[in-house]
Amino acid sequence: MLGVITANNPFKVLIYVVVLCVVPCRCGAPSENPACHLNIIETYEDYEYIKEGDIMIGGILSMNALMIDYLVPVCFYDGMLCVGALAKNYRQLVDFYFAIEQINNNLAQLPNLTLGYHIYDSCGDPRKAVRSVFQILSGTREPVPNYSCVGKRNIAGFIGDLSSETTVPIAQILTILGYSQISYGATDPSLSERITFPYFFRTVQNDESSYFALGKLLRQFDWTWVGIITSDDISGDEEHQHLSKYLYSEGICIEFTVKINDLTSVYTDHDSAIIYLSSTSIILLCGTVSLFFLLQLSHVTSVLLKKTLILSTNLGANDIVIGYDQDIFNCSLVFVPGYHYHLDTPEMRSFLANLHPLTFPKDKLLEDIWMIFHLCLSEDPNKNHLYEYIYLQRLQNCTGQKHITDLPYFTSDYSSPQVHLAVDIMSKTLHDMNMQLSEKSVKNREKHHYVHQLHQYLKTLTYNSSDGPTFYFNENGEYITRHLIYNYKFANGLVIKNLIGESSPTWKNNTIPRARCSDSCLPGFRKAPSSSAQSCCYDCVLCSEGEISNITDSTSCFKCPDMEWPNEGKNHCIARKEDFLSYTNDHISVFILSSSILLFIINLLILRVFISYWDTPIVRANNRSLSFLLLVSIKLSFLSVFLFLGRPVDITCMLRNITFGITFSIAVSSVLAKTIMVYIAFKATKPGSSWRKWVGVKLSNSLVFFCLSIQIIICMTWLSIYPPFQELDLHTYPGTIIIQCNEGSAIGFYSVIGYMGLLAAVSFVLAFLARTLPDSFNEAKYITFSMLLFCSVWITMIPAYLSTKGKNTVCVEIFAILTSSAGLLFCTFLPKCFIILFRPEMNTKSHLLGKKTLQPT
Ligand SMILES: *[C@@H]1O[C@H](CO)[C@@H](O)[C@H](O)[C@H]1NC(C)=O
Ligand SMILES: *[C@@H]1O[C@H](CO)[C@@H](O)[C@H](O)[C@H]1NC(C)=O
Ligand SMILES: *[C@@H]1O[C@H](CO)[C@@H](O)[C@H](O)[C@H]1NC(C)=O
Ligand SMILES: *[C@@H]1O[C@H](CO)[C@@H](O)[C@H](O)[C@H]1NC(C)=O
Ligand SMILES: *[C@@H]1O[C@H](CO)[C@@H](O)[C@H](O)[C@H]1NC(C)=O
Repeated sequence: MLGVITANNPFKVLIYVVVLCVVPCRCGAPSENPACHLNIIETYEDYEYIKEGDIMIGGILSMNALMIDYLVPVCFYDGMLCVGALAKNYRQLVDFYFAIEQINNNLAQLPNLTLGYHIYDSCGDPRKAVRSVFQILSGTREPVPNYSCVGKRNIAGFIGDLSSETTVPIAQILTILGYSQISYGATDPSLSERITFPYFFRTVQNDESSYFALGKLLRQFDWTWVGIITSDDISGDEEHQHLSKYLYSEGICIEFTVKINDLTSVYTDHDSAIIYLSSTSIILLCGTVSLFFLLQLSHVTSVLLKKTLILSTNLGANDIVIGYDQDIFNCSLVFVPGYHYHLDTPEMRSFLANLHPLTFPKDKLLEDIWMIFHLCLSEDPNKNHLYEYIYLQRLQNCTGQKHITDLPYFTSDYSSPQVHLAVDIMSKTLHDMNMQLSEKSVKNREKHHYVHQLHQYLKTLTYNSSDGPTFYFNENGEYITRHLIYNYKFANGLVIKNLIGESSPTWKNNTIPRARCSDSCLPGFRKAPSSSAQSCCYDCVLCSEGEISNITDSTSCFKCPDMEWPNEGKNHCIARKEDFLSYTNDHISVFILSSSILLFIINLLILRVFISYWDTPIVRANNRSLSFLLLVSIKLSFLSVFLFLGRPVDITCMLRNITFGITFSIAVSSVLAKTIMVYIAFKATKPGSSWRKWVGVKLSNSLVFFCLSIQIIICMTWLSIYPPFQELDLHTYPGTIIIQCNEGSAIGFYSVIGYMGLLAAVSFVLAFLARTLPDSFNEAKYITFSMLLFCSVWITMIPAYLSTKGKNTVCVEIFAILTSSAGLLFCTFLPKCFIILFRPEMNTKSHLLGKKTLQPT
């Protein structure tokens, strides 16, 4: 959208006038100021538009921007003087009478009745607005409250006003008098209270919805730290209060609020310091639009040039505000209500083409517009003099070549249909009402004043316009609109309006404004309250161990599921590392497996040697079946190492301990049996010894069987009462899940070990005692040595076992199994093998016997 902001910004000029004029003329003393000598009191007339009709609509419209009243003693007038005609507001007046004309021309609408109007300019001042209401109701210049001087005037309802400031007092009066009212611009939320204002309607939405939209907009851009500049009056306070509520609900914090006073108390240094020192680059403007508000803003121009301003609907609807300072308002965001309804019809265009001071010579405002915007002279020399003085422009004779449509507000882009809609809705309602009344009785209608029932009809009115949308007021008497957000950009005196969402916005310095108190916390961090009380200011702290946050600006971290653990960035959970001795992927496993297999092969070789030399004396000595059993059990214990590798499951956990307990029990009890056999053999060598009958396989086998069965009973009890099971240990190492076997019952485990230890200890003691006994081939000293090794391995294993975790525990166990089995294997069998293989001469009965005879005890 393109538009022209004229060089003649009436607001800017008026400020100049007020400042220049009010001060020097105040004392009534003679002055150099030419304005002080002007006397326009005789020419001044109120801005009043009247058209008589069967039914009349009252109108309180803001046409002029400013009322200079007796409280501000101005040199040239000492009563109420409205100045500052605005093209935009004139457009609203035009819409008003265009709507009335359309209805009167339409035969189907209000048949046989004409609609009239009586309109006054409120000049944006509540006192003037209230006065206008009484003027309309009395029908005279001088208002007479509660009295109509003009006979049977049928005022049905009122349209007006633009600002909340003027609308609220009118609404209070009209509510008492029972008149319905449709405002075309007041957005004050308090007007939605149906109990206080039952007859009030509006063709705009109340501010709360725009605050809601504003909150969403700020959220969208991630602007959570904003400043607010508002007017220091009741409506400014209320707006601020509502706005804060919506901002807080979106989690947006307010860095500062500055309230701008009117002329009487000047904007303090404190306030400017706040704005200068603020860190946010987004400032929201709300409150009442006034000249002084804008004037005060210019005190902080240098800082506002760096900030992006967001204007509430109130200010945004007023393009004069935006045009006031193109540098400040450049790249600002502006809220504008969006209607599904436009006035750019051919009838409207031809109506506008005819709108000229020559065709409407009595239209005072139109004349003003021509003077201000087209710089044309009027008929009235006093007025010409005043306007030349106020607007600092030379006026000239115009010949009628200027058109109203040359002004931006009279082009389709700028038209907003609030006033037209208000008049249209009221006339439709009057029509409906009239139709129902005439059905009842024509006579009644004559007497009826329409007034007291109009609001009932307005409440329930629903009608479809020809081009689609349905019009109705919601339960709060509001007409629901969309919110359009424009990004304004000034270039070469033109304003370019970009609708946010349709095109990419332009920013000051071409960078997206930043409005945050603290930088966002990345995933992996959480917000921690900082020293400032504001929730938008925070520090970012890393999530604690085991916790993650996967969104930006997380307020808290949460724990990963049990089986998962944070990744390095702490922004998502990953599966924990599993800790167990696996067959693959582990150097230790490879080492264990190869040593286990190597030992197993050695064991096999020894067994092979023993079987090959089965009948040789050295194998036969010391009970070869026990040796065989011992070899086999050692072999099994080498193989049992395989159960300790791999991911433990319940069944391997059970098998591990049982296999280990049983094979070792067999081994140790074989050793014990061997030792006992050495004793018995020694005793039996004495002639006539009663021990002789014990020599033999039977005793040794039953001994092994007996010792083994005790171990089996222990194991079975353990398994049946509290068997080992797979256990997942999540707590020992962070980020690791230790998959291990829980022994189930520690008593069971230690009973198995303890029993084995007992057997080993007994074997050791016996073997130690028997180590010097003479025998054909005394194994006792080897057994002593191996049992010593065995016991020391298992005794050292216990503290190591208790102090390690996870796969290290398993390594300790495997190490203990391998070393103790290997010790047993090597100590017991290597010497024999050595003799068998390398000293075959010693492996003869004669040698063994001879040795015996050579070594008498
Ligand atoms: C309008 O006036 C005409 C003539 O006076 C009359 O015939 C007609 O019925 C009136 N229409 C309505 C709706 O009152
Ligand atoms: C206004 O006038 C009506 C009748 O014209 C009267 O009934 C009412 O009491 C008056 N109200 C006030 C406040 O004077
Ligand atoms: C405008 O026209 C009037 C009468 O035609 C004439 O008296 C006056 O001097 C003209 N003013 C200018 C500024 O041309
Ligand atoms: C407004 O801002 C735009 C973009 O930063 C820049 O191009 C333009 O010149 C500015 N206009 C004025 C009037 O400063
Ligand atoms: C963050 O994690 C939660 C829980 O794991 C999950 O539901 C959510 O989808 C995640 N959000 C993102 C943005 O990854």
